[in-house]
Amino acid sequence: MSFIQLKNITKDFNSKGAPAVDDLHLTIERGEIITLLGPSGCGKTTTLRMVAGFEEPDSGSLEIDGSTVFDDHKSVPPEKRGIGMVFQDYTLFPHMTIGKNVAFGLSKWSRHDRKHRTKEVLELVGLGDYADRLPSELSGGQQQRVALARALAPKPHVILMDEPFSNLDAGLREKMRFDVENILRQANTTAIIVTHDQKDAFSISDRVVVMNEGVIQQIDAPRRLYQCPANCFVAQFVGKTNLLQGRLCPNLMHVDTHIGRVSLPERSERLLEEVQISIRPEGCRLTEQGKYSGRVERVTYSGDYQELEISLSENLLVDERMTIYAPVERYVEIGSIVSFEIIPQLVALVER
Ligand SMILES: Nc1ncnc2c1ncn2[C@@H]1O[C@H](COP(=O)(O)OP(=O)(O)OP(=O)(O)O)[C@@H](O)[C@H]1O
Ligand SMILES: [Mg+2]
Repeated sequence: MSFIQLKNITKDFNSKGAPAVDDLHLTIERGEIITLLGPSGCGKTTTLRMVAGFEEPDSGSLEIDGSTVFDDHKSVPPEKRGIGMVFQDYTLFPHMTIGKNVAFGLSKWSRHDRKHRTKEVLELVGLGDYADRLPSELSGGQQQRVALARALAPKPHVILMDEPFSNLDAGLREKMRFDVENILRQANTTAIIVTHDQKDAFSISDRVVVMNEGVIQQIDAPRRLYQCPANCFVAQFVGKTNLLQGRLCPNLMHVDTHIGRVSLPERSERLLEEVQISIRPEGCRLTEQGKYSGRVERVTYSGDYQELEISLSENLLVDERMTIYAPVERYVEIGSIVSFEIIPQLVALVER
């Protein structure tokens, strides 16, 4: 049986719009690292707070490790759910040393065990020598790790983290993703991490839950999510993409679009006529005599690649444009005509 189960969870703050979280179903296995990914206001924090017990759902049920923590008849308080929570702003106690911050949740432990466990988790997060410092004497990344150590100290079944990397600069952020994942895996902790950053989600999690307007759009492993986005929202929110309309050929392997025939990575499972496809910019490779061509309208240099905006409208009435990536060593002139191929593995049929 799954370790965490959310069934039909709905939360409406009675604002005029749609519910903050709408009929959410999610099951998580023991030891799994899951991220909730989505734009601002899509219901990520609300979902996390309901799992923690800081917010009550309007309806639905929630199980953790085989016991019901919320349903129509009961609501287990946060401190009895066996959950560790890391808030976005760390919320360390400023006047307590790092050691005391970490030991805070261990008040029911014996003095000896408390001391031992505090030392152990501080070593786990690489801060074994920092127990006597105050939070103000640590860097942002170190404070982040203290918050994680404090949450891990009582050996919770589950860790919930809300935007844990948002206050860090790019370099530190990358290192912290790596460290946090290692720490969670070592302790075999089940984790739900909230982020609006695709890189955070992809690098750290087993599965990613993409949300929009309180509704789950897709749940999948990062690679599958990127290669087979379920709908236009996911295709556009997770990475960049080109959405094209077309007609599915009778062999179910190709789609006829205004730029020509595009191959799918596999036969379509469904018989449809009018379809929409997503083509990733890196799925378009510049070649000498490619099947597709267009005029370069804009070049944006990013260091590791360059993004070309291609106008395909030569023979068309509409101004249709595509974004494709080109290797940096190639000089591309604005106004020139380039030709390219499309790699089927980076093409997907998507729902509207
Ligand atoms: N206590 C509250 N009272 C009223 N509305 C709320 C409350 N908390 C959240 N909301 C609303 O619920 C929706 C979801 O909010 P939530 O905080 O879950 O979003 P989020 O996905 O975490 O966004 P962000 O990325 O900006 O943190 C928003 O429309 C928000 O305004
Ligand atoms: Mg939030």
